[in-house]
Amino acid sequence: MIEGPNAPGLFFVFEGGEGAGKSTQSAALADYLASRGHTVVRTREPGGTPAAEAIRGILLDPANTGLDDRAEALLFAASRGDHAARVIRPALQRGDIVISDRFMDSSVAYQGVGRDLGLEKVAELSLWATGGLRPDLTILLDVDPQIGLARVVGPDRLESEPLEWHRRVRQGFLDIAATDPDRYLVLDASRPAEDLAVEITVVVEGLVQDA
Ligand code: TYD
Repeated sequence: MIEGPNAPGLFFVFEGGEGAGKSTQSAALADYLASRGHTVVRTREPGGTPAAEAIRGILLDPANTGLDDRAEALLFAASRGDHAARVIRPALQRGDIVISDRFMDSSVAYQGVGRDLGLEKVAELSLWATGGLRPDLTILLDVDPQIGLARVVGPDRLESEPLEWHRRVRQGFLDIAATDPDRYLVLDASRPAEDLAVEITVVVEGLVQDA
C-alpha cells in the first residue's frame, strides 16, 4: 500500500543542468520499473500535453531571445499547470509511477536563480500552478556546465546563455537539494551511466517497497 504524498501513485523527477544525462537515466529507470510489473508514465517538461508542448516551442525558440523574464517564468508555470492537471495527477490517482524529465526545481533554478526572480517566488508560482504537487523523490544529476554544455548539439534559447549563467543555475539546484535531503538524491553525473543507474534503482526500489 503506497502511503507517500502522491498515493496511490509515486512521482519521480530527474533534474539537472544541460547534458547531465537525465533522459538516459529516466528511460533506464522507466524500463526497470516496467520490467518489475509497474505501470510507468514517462514524461518531460516543458511539455507533456499538446498545449504544454506548444508552450515549449515558444520557450525554446531562439527567435524569442530577449523574452521577458517574468513572461518566461509564467509560461513554464502555465505549461506545468496543464501537465500536472491532465497527465501527472490522473496517473498518480490511478496508482501509476510517474517519471518526469524536469519539474518545478528547473523553474526555481533557471528562473528563480538564473533569471534572479527569487527562489521562493518561483517555487510559490509553480505550487500555485499545480495545486501543490511535489515529487516523492527528485534525482539531481549534477554536472559541471562546461562538460554538460559540450554535449549539447544545436543549442536552444536557454542553452545559449553564457557559462557563468549555467554555473549559477547549477548552484541553485544544489542549494534547493540541500534544503530537503530526504526528498533529493544528488549524484555526480560525470560518473559512468551504468553506475548511476544502479544507484538510482536501489534508492527507488527502497521507496517503492516502503510505499
Ligand atoms: P530541453 O531541451 O528539454 O533540455 P534538457 O534536454 O536539458 O532537459 O529544454 C528545456 C530547457 O528549458 C532547458 O534549458 C531547461 C529549461 N527550463 C527552464 O528554464 N525552466 C523550467 O521550468 C523547465 C522545465 C525547463
